[in-house]
Amino acid sequence: MDSTLKCTILLILLGLVVNAFSVTDYEHCENVVKKWATNSLKHESKEDKHALKDLLFFLHVPRTGGRTYFHCFLKKLYSSSLECPRSYDKLRFDPSKEKCRLLVTHDDYSISSKLPRGRTSVVTILRNPIDRVFSTYEFSVEVAARFLVHPNLTSATQMAGRLRSKNKGVSTLDIWPWKYLVPWMREDLFARRDARKTRGTSDFTSGDPYNMEDIVMPLLNYINNPIAHEIVHNGATFQIAGLTNNSYLPESHEVRHCVDKYNNLGDYVLQVAKKRLDNMLYVGLTEDHRESATMFANVVGQQVISQLVNSNAIGKGANVNNSEQGTSFSDSELDQNTNSDEKGNETTSSDDNEVNQDNMTVEKLMDTYEVCISGLRKTQTRRRIASLKRISPANFTKEARNRVPQMVLQRIQSLNKLDVELYEYAQGIFAKQHKQAAEKLFDARTLGSIFIYSGGIKLWDACLWTMPFVLLFIFLFVNAKRRTLKLKI
Ligand SMILES: *[C@@H]1O[C@H](CO)[C@@H](O)[C@H](O)[C@H]1NC(C)=O
Ligand SMILES: *[C@@H]1O[C@H](CO)[C@@H](O)[C@H](O)[C@H]1NC(C)=O
Ligand SMILES: *[C@@H]1O[C@H](CO)[C@@H](O)[C@H](O)[C@H]1NC(C)=O
Ligand SMILES: *[C@@H]1O[C@H](CO)[C@@H](O)[C@H](O)[C@H]1NC(C)=O
Ligand SMILES: *[C@@H]1O[C@H](CO)[C@@H](O)[C@H](O)[C@H]1NC(C)=O
Ligand SMILES: *[C@@H]1O[C@H](CO)[C@@H](O)[C@H](O)[C@H]1NC(C)=O
Repeated sequence: MDSTLKCTILLILLGLVVNAFSVTDYEHCENVVKKWATNSLKHESKEDKHALKDLLFFLHVPRTGGRTYFHCFLKKLYSSSLECPRSYDKLRFDPSKEKCRLLVTHDDYSISSKLPRGRTSVVTILRNPIDRVFSTYEFSVEVAARFLVHPNLTSATQMAGRLRSKNKGVSTLDIWPWKYLVPWMREDLFARRDARKTRGTSDFTSGDPYNMEDIVMPLLNYINNPIAHEIVHNGATFQIAGLTNNSYLPESHEVRHCVDKYNNLGDYVLQVAKKRLDNMLYVGLTEDHRESATMFANVVGQQVISQLVNSNAIGKGANVNNSEQGTSFSDSELDQNTNSDEKGNETTSSDDNEVNQDNMTVEKLMDTYEVCISGLRKTQTRRRIASLKRISPANFTKEARNRVPQMVLQRIQSLNKLDVELYEYAQGIFAKQHKQAAEKLFDARTLGSIFIYSGGIKLWDACLWTMPFVLLFIFLFVNAKRRTLKLKI
C-alpha cells in the first residue's frame, strides 16, 4: 500500500472512531437520564394522595413565598418537637430516627429517600419562573447588601463567621442555594464599591436599578453567569426532580450534566417532575396567593388538625422547649442571624405568639394566618428597605421592573424553559384541586364551612341568589294564609 492510501484509511478509521464516540456520548447520556427517570417513577407511591400521611414534607422552592406557610400555618399547628431535625447538615441528617411529623426545607425531592417510604405526603408552591428569577436576584442583592455596613470584605466575612458560631444557628449562608448566591453577590458588591472609591465620584447615568453597573451586578450578568445556570434556572423543575446540585442522589450530577449538554433530555426531567406534582397532597401558586392559602388551610390544615388531635400530639407539653431549637427553617429565620449585626432588635417576629392548638379549627387557623402574615410582611418590607438603602440609588421597585427590556425577559424565559412548562402544568393541577375542594365543601352540610372557605363571599352570593325565592315563598305563604283566614271568616 502506498502511503496516501494508508493515510486515507487511517483517516477514515479515525473518523469512524470519532463518530462512534460522539454517538455513544449522546446515547450514553440518554441511557443515564432514561434510567434515572424510570427509577424515579417506579418509586412514586400509588396510594391515596389526598390523605395526609404521617410525615408532611414541604418542598420549599426558594422565593415562592413558602416561608409564610411555614411561619403562619405550619408553626401554628406543629410544635417544635414535631419538626424534623435540621437537614442542612447532610452527614448527620437522619429523620427516620426521630418521630418527626414535619419537614420544611429547600432540599430537593431526593431527600425523600431518607424519609419513611409510603408514609410521607409532599406539598409545594410554584411561581411564575420570570418572577422567581427576579426575586432570587433581588434577594441575593438584599442579603448581600446588609454586609456593606462593614469597611471591607474581609471584615464582613469574618463577622458573618463569628456571628454564626456564636448563634449556633443556621444562617442564610449555610443553606442551599443562598450559601452560594449570597457570598458571590457579596464579593461582587464590595468589588464595585471599592472600584467606585478609587475612581472617585461618578454620576449614575442609568436610571435602571437592574442595570447599574457601578453599584450592583446587572440582572443580565447575573442570569448569564454559570452559577445562575447551576442553581437558579429551571430551579423548580430540578428541585422537584431531585436533581439540584444539592441532591442526595449520587447519580444526580451525571444526569444534570447530560441534560445540560443535550437539552432535549430535559423532557425526561419534566416528566418526572410533573408526575410528582400529580402525586402531591397540595400544589399552591404564589400568584394566586389568597386562593392558595385558603386551599392550604382546608386541604392540608384540616387534616393536620384531625391527625394531631387524634394522636393527641398537639398542644400540651410539646412546646416546653420552645427555643430556637426549631429545625426546619426558612429564609426569614436565617436572615435574622445574619442580620443581628444591624442595629436594633430584629425580633423573632410575630411567629412566637403561640396559639392554643387544643381547639384549633380551620377557621381559627385562617384568622391566625391573616394576623401572622401581615406582621411578617411588615418586617420583611422594613428590612428590605433598610438593606437596599445601602446600594442607593439602585432600588428594586415595581415600576422599575416594568421597564426592564423585553430582551432580558425573553432571555430569562428561554433559560427557564422547563420551569415555564412545569408552571403551566401546575396551574392545571391547581385549578383541578380548587374545583375538588369547592365540590367537597358544597357536600359539607354546614354553612359554616362554606363561609370559611370563601371568606364569606360565597355565602353572601348565596344569600343574594336565594333571597328572591325566599321572598316569593313568604309572599305565597302569607297570601295562602290570608286566603285560608278569609275562608274561615
Ligand atoms: C478591613 O477592615 C478592618 C476593620 O476596620 C481593618 O482592621 C482591616 O485592616 C481592613 N482590611 C483591609 C484589607 O483593608
Ligand atoms: C453547586 O453549584 C455551586 C455554584 O456553581 C458550586 O460552587 C458548587 O460547588 C456546586 N456543588 C456541587 C456539589 O457541585
Ligand atoms: C427541655 O430542655 C431541657 C434542657 O435544655 C431538658 O432537660 C428537657 O428534657 C427538655 N424538655 C423537653 C420536653 O424536651
Ligand atoms: C432590644 O430589646 C431589649 C429588650 O426588649 C432592650 O432592652 C434593648 O434596649 C433593645 N435594643 C435595641 C438596640 O433596641
Ligand atoms: C375547647 O373549647 C371549649 C369551649 O370553649 C372548652 O370547654 C374546652 O376545654 C377546650 N378544650 C381544650 C382542650 O382546651
Ligand atoms: C425604594 O422604593 C421604595 C418603594 O417605592 C421606597 O419605600 C424606599 O424608600 C426606596 N428606597 C430608597 C433607598 O430610595
